[in-house]
Amino acid sequence: MNKINKIKGFFDLFPPESTAYVFMEETAREVFSRYAYTEVRIPILEHTELFARSIGKETDVVQKEMYTFEDRKGRSLTLRPEATAGVIRAYIESPEAGSGGVNRFFTTGPMFRYERPQKGRTRQFHQLNVELLGEHSAFADGEILLMLWSYLQKLGLKELNMQLNSLGCTSCRPDFDAKLKNFLAMSEQENLCVDCQRRARSNPMRVLDCKVKGCAAVASSAPRILDSLCRNCRDHFDTVLAVLDMTDIRYELNPYLVRGLDYYQRTTFEVISTDIGAQSAVAGGGRYDGLIRDLGGPDIPGIGFACGMERLALLLRSIQERPLDFYLAVLHEEAMDTAMFMAQRLRDKGFEGEMGFQIKSLKSQLRLANRKKVKTCLLLGRDELEKGQIQVKDMSTGVQRAVSQDDVEQALGLNLKTKAESFVQH
Ligand code: HAM
Repeated sequence: MNKINKIKGFFDLFPPESTAYVFMEETAREVFSRYAYTEVRIPILEHTELFARSIGKETDVVQKEMYTFEDRKGRSLTLRPEATAGVIRAYIESPEAGSGGVNRFFTTGPMFRYERPQKGRTRQFHQLNVELLGEHSAFADGEILLMLWSYLQKLGLKELNMQLNSLGCTSCRPDFDAKLKNFLAMSEQENLCVDCQRRARSNPMRVLDCKVKGCAAVASSAPRILDSLCRNCRDHFDTVLAVLDMTDIRYELNPYLVRGLDYYQRTTFEVISTDIGAQSAVAGGGRYDGLIRDLGGPDIPGIGFACGMERLALLLRSIQERPLDFYLAVLHEEAMDTAMFMAQRLRDKGFEGEMGFQIKSLKSQLRLANRKKVKTCLLLGRDELEKGQIQVKDMSTGVQRAVSQDDVEQALGLNLKTKAESFVQH
């Protein structure tokens, strides 16, 4: 029979990569909960309009990258390309929406974008996504940035830089858009790609985010939004910078950081690694003060970020995945049920181990235990069964001794750290 292959740009995860994902998620839960963020779980599939209205019709994501299809009743649905729109949709539908308070959410899971796959860019990828809803204060931006940085530090990632910009608000942005439109109208149109020739009139900021060489060249001498901020946006941004200056976060201003999604206002940021090639942003986010209202919710502000787990995984490597505590080898059919219950007893106590179900020679059982890189091999044959004992073989020293079946736990020792503790940066 022909085998069926996975879809291009989609990946299966086995250990140690899958263990790295568990580590990223567990660390996120630990760090984010210290800042009072609670976990929400939302659908992977949403009405297409949710993304068109939030991410923006002129963005690459909406124009070229969404997995959109009709369901059996002809409704247009889309596999989520990001989590922010879904979290806000869910929030607006929840009782929290009317409460007027501040809400802190995080979520994790797969996202889908039909992009050209390359290192650090896949069509199914995973994000750790955070949203803080209902707070205008620049200190909320500070909290978000500090939490993101703390999380990355906790993963052991040291060589990272943050890029920062402000995109202004509804009062100063229109002036800047007009300036940018003028500038783009004066530029050689043939240097811009077809999409950007249109965007130059409809959504000029998108030209600054275009990856096409000619557009990037034009964008490099475009006016800078940081020179056009209104008083309130300037003060807001200055406070964010003052907060960062009190921390050890390595940041730099990037006046052309406009991000690939239309909903941002004021603070935007990306965290960049120089170690993973062209797709260097391991996290990105910003403030989206008009979005909740535009999606039919209350007129409250929001700010958040998402980390790309595939890109973080490129920076993590397993130094020593913790081996299983035991492999239990059965040397005689009659010992099978005793072995089964002994393995169960050990797992109930928190030990991690595997039991062999095939009766094999001592030599081949030990070879198997060796291959599995277990710490200890437990051997149970007819002799041991009769004496109420079990052989305990330390696989690193080769020392083997018989112990009473009641004493196996002590013989294995107590070292119940989680596997995930053994990840560090390259
Ligand atoms: P984004 O910058 O589009 O922002 O994505 C965030 C991160 O997801 C990127 O920095 C990157 O690490 C990862 N990522 C994006 N596309 C891919 C891909 N094709 N393959 C692998 N990794 C990828 C957002 O999605 C916003 N929703 C973030 C946000 C939350 N803003 C406010 N709240």
